[in-house]
Amino acid sequence: MMHTHFFKNIQGWFDYSDLYSVAVRIAPSDRESHFVEIGTWLGRSAAFMAVEIANSGKSIRFDCVDSWEGTGLPGEYDAQKDVVQKGLFEQFRENLKPAEAFYTVERGMSHEVAQRYPDKSLDFVFLDAGHAYDAVSADLNAWLPKMKDGAIIAGHDFFTAPEGVGKAVRQLVPGFSTAGSCWYVKISGGSTSEFEHLMARYRQENETLLQNLKRKLGLSRGGPMATSR
Ligand SMILES: C[S@@+](CC[C@H](N)C(=O)[O-])C[C@H]1O[C@@H](n2cnc3c(N)ncnc32)[C@H](O)[C@@H]1O
Repeated sequence: MMHTHFFKNIQGWFDYSDLYSVAVRIAPSDRESHFVEIGTWLGRSAAFMAVEIANSGKSIRFDCVDSWEGTGLPGEYDAQKDVVQKGLFEQFRENLKPAEAFYTVERGMSHEVAQRYPDKSLDFVFLDAGHAYDAVSADLNAWLPKMKDGAIIAGHDFFTAPEGVGKAVRQLVPGFSTAGSCWYVKISGGSTSEFEHLMARYRQENETLLQNLKRKLGLSRGGPMATSR
């Protein structure tokens, strides 16, 4: 049974479906993998990942790490006060109900939660918690040793937080690349070419789907309902 994506019903900042999809696609089919998302908020990105995992049929353990206290830094989510007051964790659990079999919760501060994992045990980690320089540096120092050789670690807001995410990644992650709003790297300097190739293909496939849909709906030039002036 295919699971339908429902992440669009959840508020959040998720714009990296290409990266999450490809992470699932490159995961092996013949053994278990371990993915961790750090910074889950109300679950928009986690909902996408959980459904991708469900539909892949692969054995991927997916942990969501967050304090669910509303912020890693005072003031960071002031615009979201109403959401926070309603109880973030409860809203997140409710939001993820359709995919509850496909994720687990690791609640706490990111750098402390990292210590629950053995070194070199993780296949994919995505950082989207604190975006300030000290927070990102602490996260990188805590999570990098947890990555297996050949694993992918990535994160959000490389360009939108240049003095935080950008600066910390430049200092602590040799050989990283960027894709859309994200940075990523394959651990131990291995080639990212398969990952890059799949990202490009994913974007192309989605562009083709979008163009076909637009044509069907007459929203692009030459479509059935297109009008000439
Ligand atoms: C930008 S939001 C995550 C958005 C989510 N990935 C999405 O796409 O909707 C950042 C989250 O990180 C959490 N957070 C920030 N600093 C943290 C820390 N040091 N430890 C644990 N969680 C933290 C916040 O509670 C918040 O829920």
